[in-house]
Amino acid sequence: MGKDLLRIIDSGEDFCRRVLTLGPEMKARRRDPSLGKPLDGLAVVTIYEKPSTRTKVSFEVGIRELGAQVVELTKAGSQLSRGETLADTAHTLERYADAIVYRGFNHDSVVGIAEHARIPVVNALTDLYHPCQILADLMTIEEHCGTLNVPISFIGNGSNIAHSLLGAAAVLGLDLTIGTPPNAMPRPEIVQEAADLVASTGGRIRVVNDPIEAVAGARIVYTDVWFDMGKDDEETVAKRSAEYQCFQLNAELLAKADREAQVMHCLPAQRGREATDEVLDGPQSIIFDQAENRLHAQKAILALLLGKDVG
Ligand code: CP
Ligand code: NVA
Repeated sequence: MGKDLLRIIDSGEDFCRRVLTLGPEMKARRRDPSLGKPLDGLAVVTIYEKPSTRTKVSFEVGIRELGAQVVELTKAGSQLSRGETLADTAHTLERYADAIVYRGFNHDSVVGIAEHARIPVVNALTDLYHPCQILADLMTIEEHCGTLNVPISFIGNGSNIAHSLLGAAAVLGLDLTIGTPPNAMPRPEIVQEAADLVASTGGRIRVVNDPIEAVAGARIVYTDVWFDMGKDDEETVAKRSAEYQCFQLNAELLAKADREAQVMHCLPAQRGREATDEVLDGPQSIIFDQAENRLHAQKAILALLLGKDVG
């Protein structure tokens, strides 16, 4: 386990397993006063370059529940927007706070802050990765399936969610199939890095372009918006949606998965685009358990990175 959580593949198996143990404990003992305030007296700064509902609220509530104070910055409202360097920002924030949670456009910005800050930095989503989301998702899969050892299928958009799932599959030896249109495949170097590691962790990673092949037999069918924040302008959506249409998670496609398959979506959803209401609101959907588990998993992540494991 390193100082930061930037990518699951770098944080390693031990860290993931500890989050998957402590997260459920945080959930079970949320209202248990004996948990105390493990981060009492500490402070966390959160920085958002992009909009957020789940990440922002779950981090803020979680940080307060752990007893720390939280200060929220936006890029636009900070001196980062006027060209203050990542290094100067990091060296300043580390004098006030004990951890930084950063949602950025470019993964390199989060890496840059982490390189300069002496305090832990948590990636709260970049163009390339969303590790907090995926750790909460793994907790949700274990909760519903009793194990991570089930076929997991992710369909649609091969970006940050797909990349972090690949990292998780590699580190934990999962059975993961990614199905995307040819123009939306995950980055080849990220697939390769995961494939190299999965060979030694006993999992299986496949990347396919056929939606039925992608979901066949899957116990988990996971999708995400087709167009990421900042890449969802009207022109792109109008021009490119047709490429993705056969990956829409609707009742017909879901019927090709395992009979007991459960539906995941990191949210926010573009309902009627990448998934239908029928599926998102249907009996197989666990999307709001996923959303809830962001809170518990992130409390575990912060407690572990700050050396305050309560497990
Ligand atoms: N899933 C997720 O990160 O949601 P927000 O963008 O609302 O934080
Ligand atoms: N891939 C999506 C995830 C949102 C939580 C995006 O980057 O917008």
